Amino acid sequence: MEGREEKIALHMEELRAMHSMTRRDFVRLGAGAVAAVRATLLEPAAMAAGRRIRFVSIGTGIRGCDLLRAARLVPTGVCVGAADLYETRHKAGQEAWGGEFPTTRDYRTLLDRKDVDAVLIATMDHQHRQVVLDAVAAGKDVYCEKPMSHTVADGFAMMKAVQENKRIFQCGSQRVSSILYAKAKEIYASGRLGEVHSIDAKWNRNTPGGAWTYPVPDDASPRTIDWEAFLRDAPPHAFDPVRFFRWRCFEDYGEGLGGDLFVHLISGIQAIAGFNTVASRAYSSGGLYHFKDGRDFPDLLETVYDYPTVNGGLQMHLHCNQNNDDGGEGIAFYGSTGTMVLTGRTVTFTPQDVSPRFESYGWGGLTAAQREQGLKEWQAAHPTAPLALMPDTVESYTLPQGYNDTADHIANFFRAIETREHVVEDEVFGNNAAIGCHLANYSYFHRTVATWDAATETIRG
Ligand SMILES: NC(=O)c1ccc[n+]([C@@H]2O[C@H](COP(=O)([O-])OP(=O)(O)OC[C@H]3O[C@@H](n4cnc5c(N)ncnc54)[C@H](O)[C@@H]3O)[C@@H](O)[C@H]2O)c1
Repeated sequence: MEGREEKIALHMEELRAMHSMTRRDFVRLGAGAVAAVRATLLEPAAMAAGRRIRFVSIGTGIRGCDLLRAARLVPTGVCVGAADLYETRHKAGQEAWGGEFPTTRDYRTLLDRKDVDAVLIATMDHQHRQVVLDAVAAGKDVYCEKPMSHTVADGFAMMKAVQENKRIFQCGSQRVSSILYAKAKEIYASGRLGEVHSIDAKWNRNTPGGAWTYPVPDDASPRTIDWEAFLRDAPPHAFDPVRFFRWRCFEDYGEGLGGDLFVHLISGIQAIAGFNTVASRAYSSGGLYHFKDGRDFPDLLETVYDYPTVNGGLQMHLHCNQNNDDGGEGIAFYGSTGTMVLTGRTVTFTPQDVSPRFESYGWGGLTAAQREQGLKEWQAAHPTAPLALMPDTVESYTLPQGYNDTADHIANFFRAIETREHVVEDEVFGNNAAIGCHLANYSYFHRTVATWDAATETIRG
């Protein structure tokens, strides 16, 4: 029992440290030195003196509370209100922010307020479209959680509305603002990887929570939850708290592994490799093997994407498994002169020696005299080539404990509100990444290759 309490105390300590984390450098592994890689964000310099962005939070569930906790680390913003359909979460939001603000079930009353600059939207995915449309129509700048869209049509409607209303829009895949991803982008852009035609990414988990079986609180009822507003334009359904709290499992409100995890991976890859487009084709395979609790989505999903216009042709393979934990998330970029691997906290670059060398394997089926002759000729043709591989020059960078990329992502958004310059993960970027998840699900459910038709903005089988 005592051990358990110690563990809880340690966990609480870690949480406190995480919430107060401000250090902005990497630990360079191996050499043991600290490489001073500056975060580009969290600098209030671009703000007019004393100005703070006044924002409201729409959706104060798991992620909405995370956003509020992260926003506390960003001195350039202040939360001035929150909306949620489940009343208990009004208090949860205030606790996460660490202070009181007006709360409501109806977010539109917050959008009517003239003293509000921006909204952080962390509602279920099927609600993103209408909340974003209402927010930009009310003249607010918008941070909307990933995946940007629940359907392809939603994404284009949101993109159009943001652009027509000339609003700043940031989608919420926070890795895009991470200093780890900035380091990976720097390595990628340096050309040290050579030609990259292959990327693998995965995110595996092995817990019930990792498979979205979130708690259903005792006070959940039609009295505490505005069920009709939750359904909005989803198919009618009798009150069901499981669908409300575990919405990720159901096609009516979420997109399963595609919307939950693929979108993070695709956004990270887009940001690091510097492309912003949709795959032309995708093929998925997978199944629901373990969590057979009435959900719609598979617990294992693999998708191969084809990007013919990126890098002269790029294959991307994504893989998420809710029945195994091999360390969580990871992305590997396979180049002709090196490999770069990102895990949750570390990026490693391993160069490959591709200098010319005598390849003895192919000579193994010939005579000794032929081999000797071949080696002589090779040495004459490559008089300066070393015969040995170059020494190991693996580089590895890891994030400091407690680094919070969500705080940087929010800081980036606040800065853009002030400068009116588009953020990297804007409405086009967010829409393209979300279409990647819709391609994956289309292929899985239709058991066919999903093809992206850019002219009609639709997916075809
Ligand atoms: N970036 C990340 O790492 C990350 C992590 C988790 C979730 N998310 C995203 O954040 C969003 C929310 O996920 P969650 O886990 O917090 O879900 P959640 O179910 O815990 O919370 C969603 C909340 O939104 C509220 N809501 C829905 N429609 C509303 C409306 N019209 N007005 C007011 N409130 C409304 C609900 O009442 C609910 O409390 C999703 O889009 C999810 O994909 C992102």
